[in-house]
Amino acid sequence: MLYRLLLGVLVAVVVSAIRPPSAATVTIKNNHPLIFYHGRWDSSPGTWWTGSGFKLNVENLQSLALNLGLHTTSPFAAIGVSINNAPFFTVNASAGITPIPLPPVSSAARGSTTLVRINVEGSVSNRINLESITLNANAVLHPYKPSKLVFQFIGDSFSSGYLLPMGVDQAWTFIVGERYGAEHRINAAPGAALTDVPSYGNVHGISYQYFKVEDTNYYYTTDHNYTTPWNFARDQPPATHVVIHIGANDSAQNVTASQFVQVYTDFLARIRKLYPHQPIFMLTPWGWPTSDGNVYYYYQGQYQEVLNARTTLGDKNIFLVDATGWVSYEDVFPDSLHPTVDGQVKIANEFTAWMENWGLSPNASINA
Ligand SMILES: *[C@@H]1O[C@H](CO)[C@@H](O)[C@H](O)[C@H]1NC(C)=O
Ligand SMILES: *[C@@H]1O[C@H](CO)[C@@H](O)[C@H](O)[C@H]1NC(C)=O
Ligand SMILES: *[C@@H]1O[C@H](CO)[C@@H](O)[C@H](O)[C@H]1NC(C)=O
Ligand SMILES: *[C@@H]1O[C@H](CO)[C@@H](O)[C@H](O)[C@H]1NC(C)=O
Ligand SMILES: *[C@@H]1O[C@H](CO)[C@@H](O)[C@H](O)[C@H]1NC(C)=O
Repeated sequence: MLYRLLLGVLVAVVVSAIRPPSAATVTIKNNHPLIFYHGRWDSSPGTWWTGSGFKLNVENLQSLALNLGLHTTSPFAAIGVSINNAPFFTVNASAGITPIPLPPVSSAARGSTTLVRINVEGSVSNRINLESITLNANAVLHPYKPSKLVFQFIGDSFSSGYLLPMGVDQAWTFIVGERYGAEHRINAAPGAALTDVPSYGNVHGISYQYFKVEDTNYYYTTDHNYTTPWNFARDQPPATHVVIHIGANDSAQNVTASQFVQVYTDFLARIRKLYPHQPIFMLTPWGWPTSDGNVYYYYQGQYQEVLNARTTLGDKNIFLVDATGWVSYEDVFPDSLHPTVDGQVKIANEFTAWMENWGLSPNASINA
């Protein structure tokens, strides 16, 4: 009897050595140090602001699922996923388990690492609350090595992916980041003015909200109806270039030219404290094109006034990017006058050409 019991145990031990117990997966908790978070995350941790997300560098990756908590947008938040720098595709992620479809792993790629990039696409309905990530059993996390180049974009609908099928992942801001193989942080909200006035559902302007964890959607949530200060020390590595395109909704809210210049100048003073050595690029409007061929611009000449105000204070590291003529009627959705998917690519081309002329070229080997 004892003999048979011991034999049974022995067999079980041998079998389990050959076929390991059903630990078919590895669970990566949200506080794992090798999850490279970017954008704005609250302590749950959950995303705010379009484009926020995380990156993983995984050896032997065969399966991946996100386990999301109750602060995730219901019924889902659209997320963009890119594997090994392939084009982004969309997954609708919901509270509970969301499997991420992966391309089949070729035998040549086994044992090598896979880069996974995930970000929320929307300007609204953009909250994912990451509890953990489930990977296949023999998957191993490696550090993600961030790019030396980090763009910080600040803006309104034009920069946020508003109306685009894949949201921010098709916006000029995101495209520029991709071209340069850069990290991108995008703080852009449709309808928002720079001035801290209510505008099209935004209870605050960007000059207030930029310094907060939450985007202006916080006001419409019941589980997190408050703002908290953003700890800019969490932006690692720090931005290397700051790019701002804003003003359309200040104009729509009848903020006067002199008020706008004052608000923008004050905002830049705060931005300069955060980014003491970084070049700041201030785009002038590309305006609102119309079917008759005219383009309507707002605050003409005022961006130059902002620049002059900063220069007078001794700030020589701010540049005016003249976006006049970048967009015409065929580049916009006729009903909303916002750039289409192709229009956004055109803007990215124009901005990249401007930056090359200024002295920053995309890294050809990253983009080959
Ligand atoms: C996400 O959900 C929306 C609404 O149901 C649907 O139209 C879209 O096709 C879904 N996208 C994906 C990638 O499943
Ligand atoms: C300002 O907000 C309104 C409403 O969302 C929108 O129609 C307009 O296009 C917005 N402009 C920008 C640049 O965000
Ligand atoms: C959020 O709080 C404000 C008051 O601070 C209130 O007016 C608003 O209705 C609240 N939003 C929701 C969705 O409860
Ligand atoms: C801005 O001014 C125009 C023209 O006076 C007016 O029609 C419009 O209602 C004003 N908009 C706001 C938000 O005050
Ligand atoms: C360009 O990219 C290559 C490959 O990732 C990298 O080795 C190189 O250091 C990059 N050069 C610059 C200037 O970032």
